[in-house]
Amino acid sequence: MKWDSSFAIGIEAIDNQHQQIFEHLLAIENSVAKRDPWHIQRFFVTQMSDYMKFHLAVEEALMEIIRYPEYAGHCASHAKLMDQIAELEKQLETAGSGRNPAGRQIPAESLVGFFEEWFVRHVLSRDREFAVYAKEEFPALLGRR
Ligand SMILES: [Fe+2]
Ligand SMILES: [Fe+2]
Repeated sequence: MKWDSSFAIGIEAIDNQHQQIFEHLLAIENSVAKRDPWHIQRFFVTQMSDYMKFHLAVEEALMEIIRYPEYAGHCASHAKLMDQIAELEKQLETAGSGRNPAGRQIPAESLVGFFEEWFVRHVLSRDREFAVYAKEEFPALLGRR
């Protein structure tokens, strides 16, 4: 799967961050497909996790500035994403200790599940709703394209 401009929500800074996360996820997927050792997979997961934290903080700050009415629900959804990342990290730690019967890597279905949750249910839905609101309320600031 490749990043496509149709995935854009219309706020350039946020779209660039989404694309970065998308690419971090592809790197993890690649690493799992190649059956890289767990510590290499962990390296990619950590990169994605750190970047995701940064991205969610940026969105939350922006929502606060524009007084987004769905702020609390959106933040709860962010918290759920971070919980899922923590779960991926835990699965990898288990793999690293050799206690994971499925093999020493992230289970592919966990990764697919996370991708669907983040990309399909969050970016293409909740983030898009917040972008619509932001552009309506702050057209001069955010509606530049
Ligand atoms: Fe986002
Ligand atoms: Fe979001």
